[in-house]
Amino acid sequence: MGLNRGIKITWLGHACVLLESFNGKRIIIDPWIENPLAPKNVKEIVSKIDYILLTHGHFDHFGNTLELAKNVKAVLANWEICMYLDKKGVKNYIDMNKGGSTTQDEITFIMVGADHSSGILEENMQYGGEAAGWVIVFENGVTVYHAGDTNVFSDMDLIRKLYKPEIVFLPVGGKYTMGIREAGYAAKLIRPRFFIPIHYNTFPPIQAEPRELNRYLKGLRTELIVLNPGEELS
Ligand code: NI
Ligand code: MN
Repeated sequence: MGLNRGIKITWLGHACVLLESFNGKRIIIDPWIENPLAPKNVKEIVSKIDYILLTHGHFDHFGNTLELAKNVKAVLANWEICMYLDKKGVKNYIDMNKGGSTTQDEITFIMVGADHSSGILEENMQYGGEAAGWVIVFENGVTVYHAGDTNVFSDMDLIRKLYKPEIVFLPVGGKYTMGIREAGYAAKLIRPRFFIPIHYNTFPPIQAEPRELNRYLKGLRTELIVLNPGEELS
């Protein structure tokens, strides 16, 4: 499939994505591993994780962070979410904000913008800073962009100019994020090599047929890859 440059990709349902680097470092983004689409053996799949990346504080992204954080090197998130983690006893975090980056194990993590919200639902809504996306530059140069929850925004063009991501994960389910039409436009702005749709069909309000995206990809060199939850691409 042309992706064989040393990274492995597994979609675990909803916005939860597992990436394994050339050197075997394992990164999970938005670890809501109890999502309705998660594969049966998800606990096994996530038993060895090095880094957790959070895009924002909503439950369907923050997910199982508190339990998983005990066995990882670090949780990367915005400053407000990291202070929340600190209060919950999680100390192995890397607090960041948009435009910032950190390099760990030769992998560079860059926090980029998103057009969304980030409240943490408890008895009282906790302020979770602003929603973000992540650009990850692997040790072999492969660059991945996970947009988190977002609407399409024109600064996706800046993300393309600055980082040239080859593989992108974009939400397409609508209602809480952009839908097919907006995600199709996002692909025009980012022009990735591979577009992997996420954040759809988890529950009825975000039903979508991701193959409808193909009509927006005409004339682009972008290939749509529709994964099944748990399926590994390498
Ligand atoms: Ni959200
Ligand atoms: Mn969401």
